[in-house]
Amino acid sequence: MDLYAVFGNPIAHSRSPWIHARFAAQTGEALSYEAILAPTDGFAAAVAAFRARGGRGANVTVPFKLDAFALADRRSERAEAAGAANTLIFSADGVLADNTDGAGLVRDLAFQGCALSGQRVLLLGAGGAARGALLPLLAEKPGRLVVANRTAARATALIAGRDCGATELAACGFDDLAGSSFNVVINATSSSLAGEAPPLPRGIYAPDSLAYDMMYGRDETAFLSAARELGAAHCLDGLGMLIEQAAESFFLWRALRPDTGAVRRDLRTLLA
Ligand code: ATR
Repeated sequence: MDLYAVFGNPIAHSRSPWIHARFAAQTGEALSYEAILAPTDGFAAAVAAFRARGGRGANVTVPFKLDAFALADRRSERAEAAGAANTLIFSADGVLADNTDGAGLVRDLAFQGCALSGQRVLLLGAGGAARGALLPLLAEKPGRLVVANRTAARATALIAGRDCGATELAACGFDDLAGSSFNVVINATSSSLAGEAPPLPRGIYAPDSLAYDMMYGRDETAFLSAARELGAAHCLDGLGMLIEQAAESFFLWRALRPDTGAVRRDLRTLLA
């Protein structure tokens, strides 16, 4: 049986073993997938021990995505763009690092019927989550993509030197958003963890717009509650992104695309 795992600290809360068990059952793949708690200063050793046990691949979550990127022998273009890795593939050639988070976001938006092409998109945040999302979002060819962050300079640095094709790409602080409106607003800040929402001005949500929080939880996130109050027509949390990034990792390992629809329904029920 092929061996996979997710590394994190903490890790007990991770839904990845459940999701990948569902994918394996659905596709008939013989694999096991476990959660491994690595010490914060012991990621590389934990990965080495797992490889010695025959591990074929791994997911990586907080706080090890930068360590996973650094540990790899080779890196995909999207991992390079994100500067972080959430997926590792082990082979005799060494360790390949990839990043499926941004692809998971874009696939979830597509699943939800949200086409980004030509749309005005606002990406909030300039940390790892925003960095991972930027290139996959640009690949969808939005008409305008604005990256806004509490610390404006980090947003400016994030877009510096990006080839953005026909997309109008800009960066700013939250205060600079007054007077702008967007069809899709994506929260890639970690503010919801603190029960806070980035301070967005009235009018930011265009008619029939979508608010999307990469975070999720049993209760509605602070960002989505604020979005509803500001007039967002549709609100989505990051549960679909979680499942889609997992499906993308599964595809990298097994060359099979699981059907995420049933898994979405069941995970939502499980968390309710
Ligand atoms: P991650 O890897 O999860 O993106 P990170 O690299 O620490 O984590 O980045 C956190 C992001 O959330 C940053 O964009 C941060 O803004 P700053 O760059 O100004 O620090 C943003 N953030 C965190 N708490 C926030 C809050 N309460 N309100 C608004 N933005 C917040």
